[in-house]
Order: sequence, then C-alpha cells, then structure tokens
Amino acid sequence: GGPVKEFTGEEVAEHCTRDKRVWVTYKDGVYDVTDFLDMHPGGAQRLMLAAGGALDPFWAMYAQHNTDEVRQMLEGYRVGTL
Ligand code: HEM
Repeated sequence: GGPVKEFTGEEVAEHCTRDKRVWVTYKDGVYDVTDFLDMHPGGAQRLMLAAGGALDPFWAMYAQHNTDEVRQMLEGYRVGTL
C-alpha cells in the first residue's frame, strides 16, 4: 500500500465536533466518521460519546459491533494510524 498517515492521540482529540470533523480510533486505526454520524443505527448522539477518542471501550459494551461487516464498514472511513 501507499504511505500511511500517522496521528497522535492529541490530534485525534481535536476532532470532536461536526465542525472540526469527528474522528475516532479503534485499536491503532484512525477514522473520520463525520459522514457516518447520521447513518449510525445507534444514533449520532451515542456515536458522539466516542468523538475524539477510542471506540474500543464502547464496542466492548455493545457487542453488536463485533462482526467483520461492521469492522469493514469502519475501514471505509480510515484516514490513518496512531
Ligand atoms: C448499532 C456501527 C459507534 C452504540 C450499530 C450498527 C452498526 C454500528 C453498523 C448496527 C449493528 C447491527 O445490528 O447489525 C458503528 C460505528 C461506530 C459506532 C461504525 C463508530 C464509528 C458506537 C458507539 C456506541 C454505539 C460509540 C455507544 C456509545 C450502538 C448501539 C447500537 C449500535 C446501542 C444498536 C442500535 C439498535 O439496534 O437499536 N452501530 N457504531 N455505536 N451501535 Fe454503533
């Protein structure tokens, strides 16, 4: 593959509103999920709880995310790596 952009946790944390774009991390992946907010089956408000930070603890609580389909969907929003 091509070059992979690397971001710090601080940079990710700045992206915590729709205006600044909503980024989340999952494992070492960094994702811009702004365009997914209004498509989230669990609602935009719940997704915003993870804005600027890690999805992992939320996905551990809500096991319906633990499928290849959901992980592939997330990969579609990848902007880089931590
Ligand atoms: C459901 C994706 C973040 C809570 C779902 C489903 C998808 C999805 C595809 C449907 C799963 C199915 O039933 O087949 C995502 C993505 C996220 C994200 C891509 C991040 C970018 C979150 C967060 C929370 C959350 C942070 C909780 C704080 C839920 C809940 C449901 C759900 C409660 C079930 C909704 C229902 O069936 O009524 N999510 N999710 N999600 N998600 Fe998320």
